Amino acid sequence: MSSNIEKIQELITFREQAKLGGGQKRIDSQHKRGKFTARERINMLLDEGSFEEFDMFVTHRCHNFGIEKESYFGDGVVTGYGTIDGRLVYIYAQDFTVFGGSLSETLAAKICKVMDMSMKNGAPIIGLNDSGGARIQEGVNALAGYAEIFQRNILASGVVPQISAIFGPCAGGAVYSPALTDFIMMRKDTSYMFLTGPKVVKTVTGENVTQEQLGGASIHATKSGVAHFVVDDEEEGIALLRKLIGYMPQNNLEDAPLAICTDSISRIEDSLNEIIPDNPNKPYDMFDVISSIVDNGDFLESQKGFAPNIITCFARFNGQSVGIVANQPKYLAGVLDCNASRKAARFVRFCDAFNIPLVTLVDVPGFLPGTTQEYGGVIVHGAKLLFAYGEATVPKVTIVLRKAYGGAYCVMSSKHLRGDLNYAWPTAEIAVMGASGATEVLAGKEVNAVEDPAARAKLVAEKEADYSKQFANPYNAAKYGYIDDVIEPRNTRFRVIRALQSLATKRLVNPAKKHSNIPL
Ligand code: HXC
Repeated sequence: MSSNIEKIQELITFREQAKLGGGQKRIDSQHKRGKFTARERINMLLDEGSFEEFDMFVTHRCHNFGIEKESYFGDGVVTGYGTIDGRLVYIYAQDFTVFGGSLSETLAAKICKVMDMSMKNGAPIIGLNDSGGARIQEGVNALAGYAEIFQRNILASGVVPQISAIFGPCAGGAVYSPALTDFIMMRKDTSYMFLTGPKVVKTVTGENVTQEQLGGASIHATKSGVAHFVVDDEEEGIALLRKLIGYMPQNNLEDAPLAICTDSISRIEDSLNEIIPDNPNKPYDMFDVISSIVDNGDFLESQKGFAPNIITCFARFNGQSVGIVANQPKYLAGVLDCNASRKAARFVRFCDAFNIPLVTLVDVPGFLPGTTQEYGGVIVHGAKLLFAYGEATVPKVTIVLRKAYGGAYCVMSSKHLRGDLNYAWPTAEIAVMGASGATEVLAGKEVNAVEDPAARAKLVAEKEADYSKQFANPYNAAKYGYIDDVIEPRNTRFRVIRALQSLATKRLVNPAKKHSNIPL
């Protein structure tokens, strides 16, 4: 055999060895837990045959605790690039079969390399996490590796989309890399995220808690708001990642890809003319509105289980990617509270950073009053949403469907926060507050002076009707130009499409500054 052939054979052998990660036994054990390996995940996620790997032959350099006797090609992470629907993405997938995917100095360097390449070439970076955290044998070098990754997450924020999928453990300071990225997806039952595990929790606070209770997918999807998406299995997770990336541009200097629109752009939705109940206190489902106006009724909701009184989702109008923010009257009457404000603010800022127009559907009775909210900092959280909308320079189309009361009117992409096209349905009520509250404040003394209950009720009804006539309509706001037009609900789809078309060339630049100081 010529020496060339031998060398090529050696390469093939090395590659085969690298592909086995920590060995067949550990691969089998990964499969037994219902988990795919790093390479299997990458192959499922990327277009077939598109993956180009880097640093396959990297091994660790550690000499502590006997680890020098054990090393594997790749050192616990598979990195490289490939395409999703023909679009370039950079990727890293932690390999749990090699030292539990734990992070070494060299593993971190591999991740940093793909992050640097993603920034240089302006393409999204996707991280598939499945790791036991800092490699214990490496000490401070592992910590340094994490911090190097964090720094890159920070610099890449707002430059390229960053997405984290958590398919296994993600504990300790390791959680901060996903937390610095734009979206976190978790898988039910196999993934968890926490800063300190159950044992430490027990020692420090005496609290008995399982991993799932402390940082499982459902906790982060409903209570903490850390996770944006939750999936039942890895196949569903991979499909979601592919769909999610389709709504985003490659980087902050590009627009999101235009999809082929197979839905009629002039579709009239008669059902919308009937959707608002006669009784202003009766809820309806905002999802019915969203699915009837967007292309093919298709949308992707972020943070579904967290603060459901506000909806944040990606969708398309005439093929163009948009971010929709909508109050949900079906839940807490669509009120704005601390969590809803935080959730929507972050979504608005993502869309603005990546040139994704915002469509805002308003039906909000105001901010939730009370000590829980005030002590929880609703002032500062509400200010986040206000700030995010006011700072955003992407096209902003707003439709007021029903209530737009008080401060919440101002916040929800109003004209005064540089809303570009602000429409209202004839059912809109744009006012400082609802009729009953207003009557109580303005005519409370007069009403209470009436002793006869029937006469008092009649007076209240008259006062409320008078207030409603004056304010519970869109025309008062339209009179001042705060609403550009009052539109028939059934025409909403094509009015939004036209609005977005007219704003396609929008140019708006904020004053030069080092950076803003959003109320965190
Ligand atoms: C080195 C590790 C490791 C680690 C796991 N392994 N975690 N090796 N450093 N951090 C190895 C195991 O020795 C084992 O090797 C293999 O990975 C699989 O681990 P198992 O324990 O067998 O798997 P499992 O039972 O599924 O448990 C997974 C686990 C557990 C829950 C993640 O391994 C664990 O608790 N690991 C330690 C977690 C931790 O405390 N990490 C440090 C967090 S602090 P073999 O040879 O048997 O296959 C941190 C600070 C970061 O990360 C700070 C950043 C700023």
